[in-house]
Amino acid sequence: MQQLSTKHLLGIKGLTAEDIQLIFETADNFKDVINRPIKKVPSLRDITIANVFFENSTRTRLSFELAEKRLSADVINFSSSNSSVKKGETLIDTVNNILSMKVDMVVMRHSSPGAPHFLSQNINANIVNAGDGTHEHPTQALLDAFSIREKLGDVAGKKVAIIGDVLHSRVALSNIFCLQKLGAEVMVCGPVTLLPMYISSLGVKVEYDVKKALQWCDVANVLRIQLERQQIKYFPSLREYSLYYGVDKKLLDQLDKEIVIMHPGPINRGVELNSDVADSEHSIILNQVENGVAIRMAVLYLLAGVK
Ligand code: CP
Repeated sequence: MQQLSTKHLLGIKGLTAEDIQLIFETADNFKDVINRPIKKVPSLRDITIANVFFENSTRTRLSFELAEKRLSADVINFSSSNSSVKKGETLIDTVNNILSMKVDMVVMRHSSPGAPHFLSQNINANIVNAGDGTHEHPTQALLDAFSIREKLGDVAGKKVAIIGDVLHSRVALSNIFCLQKLGAEVMVCGPVTLLPMYISSLGVKVEYDVKKALQWCDVANVLRIQLERQQIKYFPSLREYSLYYGVDKKLLDQLDKEIVIMHPGPINRGVELNSDVADSEHSIILNQVENGVAIRMAVLYLLAGVK
């Protein structure tokens, strides 16, 4: 069996292009499985996985849980909001207590960048990063690139514009690493206040005019405005943001080509993306969610083989 080069999935930065291709080929097989009448395989029978979420989630948490169940793993779910973390228990103590119940793998979302890396140095289990603060969200980037490959045949040579709140986005950083490793060209676009100072050092194009970004790209990945992470005002009002950076049908109709629209979710409808685009034939947003299950099955299956 082919193996990943890593025991944990902490970020796309730590994966090779070969790792990503192996995840995609494995996900192709699992996508076939989940489209069958019997959607379950015994691949992870007798493996126990803990989903440990210190931050809210709909898509990622449910997608991991479904992926684990489709692989016949035993699953336990932990949410910090109704746990003994509220009584002052530390991250290491919390996870070590969970692991003492004979858990093999931990899928963790945390608001602190680097939390899964810290955990991987202190506990004995495979760790999967399900999003760490503003740092990385590797399985989101994998399912995004997998969805581009599915829609356009390949990722190599494609032009992808990441539009919006790049500063607070873990999806942006993981997408940049993943798309570049697969040979795509990447542009970021947004107001200057929402693009990190270091961004051009990552080898991406930088554009402030959303019309130019949309005209340049084959795929636009529109990001959520993350108000919950914004301690100061980065733009005057949501209305003004929407006026200058919101993607709507009128903008797409001005282009001289068809482009693919993506969004990691949850969408702020009418802010960064209008319903006339989100629900249109240009959008592959629900395909991204569907592909998330196959990608997460592939990641868990492959990591379980690396001890
Ligand atoms: N895309 C994403 O991470 O969504 P959730 O926050 O709902 O998991």
